[in-house]
Amino acid sequence: MCWGLENRLSRIFQKDNHTIMLAVDHGYFLGPTSGLEVPKKTIEPLISFADSLMLTRGILRTSISSDIPVPIVLRVSGGNSIIGKELSDEDITVSMEDAIRLNVSAVALSLYVGSEYQHRTIINLSRLVDEGEKYGIPVLAVTAVGREMVRDSKYLALCCRIAAEHGAHFVKTYHCKDFRKVVESCPVPLVIAGGKKIPEKDALQVAFNAIQDGASGVDMGRNIFQSTHPVAMIKAVRAIVHKNTSVDDAYNIFNELQSK
Ligand code: 5RP
Repeated sequence: MCWGLENRLSRIFQKDNHTIMLAVDHGYFLGPTSGLEVPKKTIEPLISFADSLMLTRGILRTSISSDIPVPIVLRVSGGNSIIGKELSDEDITVSMEDAIRLNVSAVALSLYVGSEYQHRTIINLSRLVDEGEKYGIPVLAVTAVGREMVRDSKYLALCCRIAAEHGAHFVKTYHCKDFRKVVESCPVPLVIAGGKKIPEKDALQVAFNAIQDGASGVDMGRNIFQSTHPVAMIKAVRAIVHKNTSVDDAYNIFNELQSK
């Protein structure tokens, strides 16, 4: 692996090989998502507790100060919206040159395995990996997106393995029953999305289970920024990801911080 690419990955994955990524890219197809109506207001207080920020170039340029030390994972796929016909109808939306100008540490693209446009999104992943390898920029494949997918270990293992086979340097997926099978059959690190907002203790349990099952971290959005107390929540998730804290102790951290 080239030094630049390794160096960028080492900014995202900490010394314990774990990472807590804050996903705030939802607007690229959902518009002003609940909790992210004014991105700067939501993101700023959370930045210092994240190991990286996952977002689009529009929000990066307009809402994030250029002097932040936190590495950026730039979403570079899109082209559709929640009110469109077929979400999987995505393409690459940012050139590698612009990603480099923005000094990002990785680029992220969605892979729609089993959807109408799976072929295009898999080929786009391969093209992005070719470009990334040329300039030392790691590629994150975001799997299992789509309303109608059954997110079981068989499907998620298929998605993650296909992403890795096409050269993704790390993969974002969902936690599921028998998640270890997904981890074992994927030769690159996996991070999990949080999914729809659920009660804080349940979300902490998902993060805990994922780490216990071998995930390298979380790339969590709504369960952090839609929490009643987002800073308390990201700190509690952080304790699980980096300190191996139990769910009860992490929930105590959340409760103590939210009452301050
Ligand atoms: C959507 C994404 C989102 O950033 C991510 O999945 C959302 O994270 P969360 O589910 O935790 O809100 O990549 O394709």
